[in-house]
Amino acid sequence: MNRTSGCRRVVLALFALALFATVASADQAAPPSAEKGKRLYAGNACYFCHGTLGQGLGVNGARIGPPSRAVAGFIAYVRRPTGAMPAFTDRILPDADLADIYAFLRTMPTAKAAKDIPLLGPLKGK
Ligand code: HEC
Repeated sequence: MNRTSGCRRVVLALFALALFATVASADQAAPPSAEKGKRLYAGNACYFCHGTLGQGLGVNGARIGPPSRAVAGFIAYVRRPTGAMPAFTDRILPDADLADIYAFLRTMPTAKAAKDIPLLGPLKGK
């Protein structure tokens, strides 16, 4: 083995290491999954007060699907609710899980205005 091929091997090894590090870190920062969020939403009883689709249940919980806040504000609220909602600490529900729940709630359609709901037709203009 001469000096040049040894050097090439070192370069190749460093390249492989850098590639591996990139792949490994990309795996860690997996994007939030709405699919996983759906399960977490059900598994953590959010539906109990907010409805199975985050539509809200009137007396118990607000409509949270789709969320009206950015993800940071959403997580902050769940950690320290200001009303009747129980707090969820990050030991029970890590930020990554809440980001998944957020992704799930974002798949919900926005609420229609009352004037766009035919059943409420008689109330139009009132
Ligand atoms: C025991 C009932 C209950 C449960 C369980 C519950 N919530 Fe709530 N949540 C509420 C109520 C009631 C409110 C309205 C404000 C308040 O009283 O805190 C609320 C408000 C919120 C808000 C703020 C809405 C806004 O934008 O103004 C978010 C976000 C939220 N809940 C997310 C969640 C998530 C995520 C879960 C599951 C991990 C969950 N909640 C579980 C009762 C509940």
